Amino acid sequence: MRVKVQNLTKRFGEVTAVDNLTAEFESGKLIALLGPSGCGKTTMLNMLSGILPVTEGQIFFDDKDVTDLTPDKREVGLVFQNYALYPHMTVLENICFPLKIKKVPKAERIEKAKEFAKMVHIEEYLNRKPKELSGGQQQRVAIARALVKNPKLLLLDEPLSNLDAKLRVEMREEIRRIQRESGVTTFFVTHDQEEASAISDYIMLMKLGEMQQFDKTRNLYNQPANLFVADFIGSPTINQLHGIYTEGGIKVDGDNQIIKTNNKWQVEEGSRVVLASRAEAITFNDKDDIKTKVVEYYLSGKDTLVNLKIGSYNLRGYIDATKAIKIGDNLNIGFKKEGVFLFDELTGERYYE
Ligand SMILES: Nc1ncnc2c1ncn2[C@@H]1O[C@H](COP(=O)(O)OP(=O)(O)OP(=O)(O)O)[C@@H](O)[C@H]1O
Ligand SMILES: [Mg+2]
Repeated sequence: MRVKVQNLTKRFGEVTAVDNLTAEFESGKLIALLGPSGCGKTTMLNMLSGILPVTEGQIFFDDKDVTDLTPDKREVGLVFQNYALYPHMTVLENICFPLKIKKVPKAERIEKAKEFAKMVHIEEYLNRKPKELSGGQQQRVAIARALVKNPKLLLLDEPLSNLDAKLRVEMREEIRRIQRESGVTTFFVTHDQEEASAISDYIMLMKLGEMQQFDKTRNLYNQPANLFVADFIGSPTINQLHGIYTEGGIKVDGDNQIIKTNNKWQVEEGSRVVLASRAEAITFNDKDDIKTKVVEYYLSGKDTLVNLKIGSYNLRGYIDATKAIKIGDNLNIGFKKEGVFLFDELTGERYYE
């Protein structure tokens, strides 16, 4: 099912939790709602589910306006952060419960519940109570319970936040598999950019209720719409050199060189800018002539992650581990064309080529 939101807004008194958001979400995709704490992710999800009435704007499921429909009429499956399984019921009873409410005959609901238990790989635990399961198993029960009603939309609010790091990675792959198998349009809320990037087809990145970028997942990394997106996505964090645009290059604060890259930006002389570059966009070739100093380095496999000083800023790049370096060395660098961006320092807006 396709989802569309039109000028969607939610205000709590003075706070605008979701601000005039318009977007269309393709059917059958996994969309990550990403952003720092308090940016409006849960509010957005709760408006989609119908738990929270909207202040302004509309929500469409396919072409149907569902803005004023109650949650039970929207056919959505919800999984909260704490799973909220019924503690006195077995796994089987938990999964059957939504069907019982819908008055599905007993034999049929058991059959259906078993089918979904199998899909999420918990068919061995049908007679256990939730407290006899691990966090990851409980989470799978919660997903099976959300899917058993055959929802048109699956909404997951930080479903992995209670799990340890290793289980988180396993479970996100499970969620991806289950989502692909069921084909249900899914919204997955997280504040972890790495998790969002690993699991989703699309990411909507939000800040203070406003959409920063909604795009195919890889585009947020390769083509960030503004400095906030560039900074939020990617590990290590994108390098940022602040300075003045002059003589067709960037004079970084605290440094006298004018850095010229392979990009062709149209910038007014004297503008305050941020030159942002992915670590992998830094080169260390013989002809490279931008002077930096080694501050620190970390061995990581075949590459060394090297931390360099240029003017008042630090910059990280990957250098071949066979190249001997030490702290305090002078090291010349260059920039590739890809993975290098220029932003207005004040507004964070991107200069496009
Ligand atoms: N019921 C409410 N009453 C008043 N303000 C609220 C209410 N619910 C949320 N807010 C405010 O709205 C903003 C968005 O909150 P929301 O819960 O959607 O953020 P979030 O992105 O899910 O954050 P987190 O990652 O911490 O869960 C916050 O500033 C929050 O304080
Ligand atoms: Mg939240």
